[in-house]
Amino acid sequence: MGCDRVMIIETLSTFPHMYDSVMGSSMMRIAQEKGLLDFCAYDLRDWTHDRHRTTDDDPYGGGAGLVMKCEPIYEAYQAITGIDVGLPPVQLTGNEQPTTGPAPRHANGLRPKTVFLTPCGCVFDDACAAELAREERLLFVCGHYEGIDERAYELADYCISIGDYVLTSGELASMVVIDAVVRKIDGVLGAEGGALDESFVEGLLEHPQYTRPAQFMGREVPDVLLSGDHAAIARWKREQALQRTAELRPDMLERASLTADDLKFLKTSFG
Ligand code: ADE
Repeated sequence: MGCDRVMIIETLSTFPHMYDSVMGSSMMRIAQEKGLLDFCAYDLRDWTHDRHRTTDDDPYGGGAGLVMKCEPIYEAYQAITGIDVGLPPVQLTGNEQPTTGPAPRHANGLRPKTVFLTPCGCVFDDACAAELAREERLLFVCGHYEGIDERAYELADYCISIGDYVLTSGELASMVVIDAVVRKIDGVLGAEGGALDESFVEGLLEHPQYTRPAQFMGREVPDVLLSGDHAAIARWKREQALQRTAELRPDMLERASLTADDLKFLKTSFG
C-alpha cells in the first residue's frame, strides 16, 4: 500500500442513496478528499429496461419473497468494468428502454475484486479487511429481498457476511466492510500506524483508553499512564489487552501470538 495510490470502490445496489451519509462523512469523506479513495455508488435499476425498472421477480419453485434478477447485474457489471462477460446484445421489445444513468467512471477493463454481501458468505474479520485493502479496485454487489439469483454469484470473488443475523439490505453490510477496508489504506488515518495498534490486528482486544480530565466524578486515570515511564506504560497496555481478551474473548487468545512474558502474566492472573 503506497500513499500515492487511489483505491477504487464501487457499489451496485437498488438503494445507492443509502451511501450518501456514511460515504459523505468523517474518515470516508476525508479519504476521498485526500485522493486516496474514488467511490461511486451505482443504481442497479439503471440497467433495467422496463417501465418499472424491475430488479426482482418471484422465486422459481415457490416460496416467500422476491429474488433479485441476474440480467441487470450482468449488464451493470459489463458496463461498470468494461469487461465483456459474454452477454448477448440487449434486444429491446416495444415497451422497453435502453439503459439510463451516468456513464461508469472506470469502464477500462480493470477487473475489480467483486464482493457479494450475503448472510451465506464467509464471516468478515480484520484479516479479510486487510486482504481487501491491498486491492486496487473493489466492486460490492448488494442484494435486497430474499436473495440474488444464484447465477449472478459467478461474478463473485468473495461472498461476505458481516455476522450471523439477517439484514434487510446488503448496502448496510457493504458499508461496514468498506469502512473497515478504507481505514487500512495508508494515509487515511491521521496518526501514523493508528490502524495497526488496535484490537484484532495483534489478535488481542485493545487496552482501555483515557483522556483528560485525570479525575472525573471520583474516577481516576491509572497512575501509570501519567508516570511518563514509557516501558511501564507499554507493559501496562499489553497486560490490560491480555486481561481484557482473556475475560471477554478467550477464544481469541488461542489464535494470538503470545510472548513468554504474556504467557507468564496470563498464568499468574488467570491460573
Ligand atoms: N445481507 C443480509 N444480511 C447480511 C449479512 N448478515 N451480511 C451480509 N449481507 C447481508
